Amino acid sequence: FSAHLYYNIMKDNGFSLPDDEKMLYGEFKKDFIWSSATASYQIEGAWRQGGKGLSIWDKFTHTPGNILQHDTGDIACNSYNKMEDDIAALKKVKVSHYRFSVSWPRILPDGTTEYINQAGLNYYKKLLDSLIAANIQPQVTLYHWDLPQALQDVGGWENETIIERFRDYADILFENLGPKVQLWITFNEPFIIAILGHVQGTHAPGFSDRPDTLPYIVSHNIIKAHAEAWHVYNDKYRASQNGMVSITVNADWAEPRNPYKQEDYDAARSVVEFYLGWYAHPIFNGDYSPLMKRSVLEQSLAGGLTKSRLPEFTPEEIKRINGTYDYFGLNHYCSVLAFPVDFGEIQHFEADRGVVLLRDRTWLESGSHWLTMTPFGLRRLLKFIKHEFGNPPIIITENGVSENGPVDLNDVHRKYFYEKYINQVLKAYLLDDVNVIGYTAWSLLDNLEWAVGYTERFGLFYVNRSDPDLSRTPKASVSFYSSIISCNGFPD
Ligand code: NOJ
Repeated sequence: FSAHLYYNIMKDNGFSLPDDEKMLYGEFKKDFIWSSATASYQIEGAWRQGGKGLSIWDKFTHTPGNILQHDTGDIACNSYNKMEDDIAALKKVKVSHYRFSVSWPRILPDGTTEYINQAGLNYYKKLLDSLIAANIQPQVTLYHWDLPQALQDVGGWENETIIERFRDYADILFENLGPKVQLWITFNEPFIIAILGHVQGTHAPGFSDRPDTLPYIVSHNIIKAHAEAWHVYNDKYRASQNGMVSITVNADWAEPRNPYKQEDYDAARSVVEFYLGWYAHPIFNGDYSPLMKRSVLEQSLAGGLTKSRLPEFTPEEIKRINGTYDYFGLNHYCSVLAFPVDFGEIQHFEADRGVVLLRDRTWLESGSHWLTMTPFGLRRLLKFIKHEFGNPPIIITENGVSENGPVDLNDVHRKYFYEKYINQVLKAYLLDDVNVIGYTAWSLLDNLEWAVGYTERFGLFYVNRSDPDLSRTPKASVSFYSSIISCNGFPD
């Protein structure tokens, strides 16, 4: 009694797929960006090679108890020494673009411009040349979480002098790599930096001692640092380099648990506003959203404070931050069900947001407990962004799925995931007029999945960790994704 037979019986009896799951046939716009992504700490290895300084992730992974199986990024996929293998993998997928990140301590070992490590710059210049020679365009992330440890030692994102440090670092990258780069991402997922790094303590730098205030301070500085980097590009490099600079925010889609209850709609909205809105609102619309300001203020007063824990931007800062984008960068993986909370049940950030999140048991699971396959949410989120942030061009800078346990190169669940999610992107583009200009699969390679080490594998390519050569083998989803790319979607 196979699933296929079961499905056919249901169909014969008048079962039809809900509209959400029906395939739409059609193509994306010409020159659509088809990409796959990685990040420096997750793939490079070579943690003490080529003059690189230490990052907060080097320290965090070397501290016992932080990472599953005591995994570290010391070697990772050894991409620092295996650039040609990665380029060969990219060619096999036939992507038009490759998203990678620069390791800040590889360029500035102690975080400041006192000493610029030429070997680090040369590595990325060579990577850019090899990509361009292979006809693959780069999308470069400036900060994918590996802060120089030396800057953490003086307060990290909590110390506002980091704004200047980040601006100087950005300036160096624009000057040295900019002539070969058209797409830049300042920060990857500031929400995760704030919550996992500074509330839960499960990511570097591992803080959980001031969960009520720290995420807001850190985020405030990140937003300002982003704006300064954008202005450096705009003032000094745009005329000659003519590229696009933006930030990448992440968000689940929140679906009201009970569609007949206004409170559940309000809860769902609050989730999305506290996710991507936290950063996108100041950058696209000016200032934090009224909902976020009201909510953190109420909770602060209820906690006995006299003012909000959410810092304020001055009017000049609001002006300087507003409009510092050239597109909207979105990382998205899954959806949640939202409903309002009984405040006794939750604390800190969750209380400010005022919402409980649930996953529907019928949603298909993956190798990560937080990731259920919910393609419908991506289309809804894209529509939300279109309406909330003035219909900007959108690049999906990450989307993908994991497995754990035994290796199965026939990754059926990943083919399902890409087909259904990319099809929802097509629906947003063709049916809802969302200006989506690119899609990026996370990830090119199985790599260090942060606190869970190498146990959760997001790669299109399997990396054999017991082979000293760390060989890359395509999973079945490589040719599948590649055929979607060569068709530019799902033509009839
Ligand atoms: C988002 C992060 O940017 C990336 O580093 C991570 O591996 C994936 N999500 C999967 O969790």
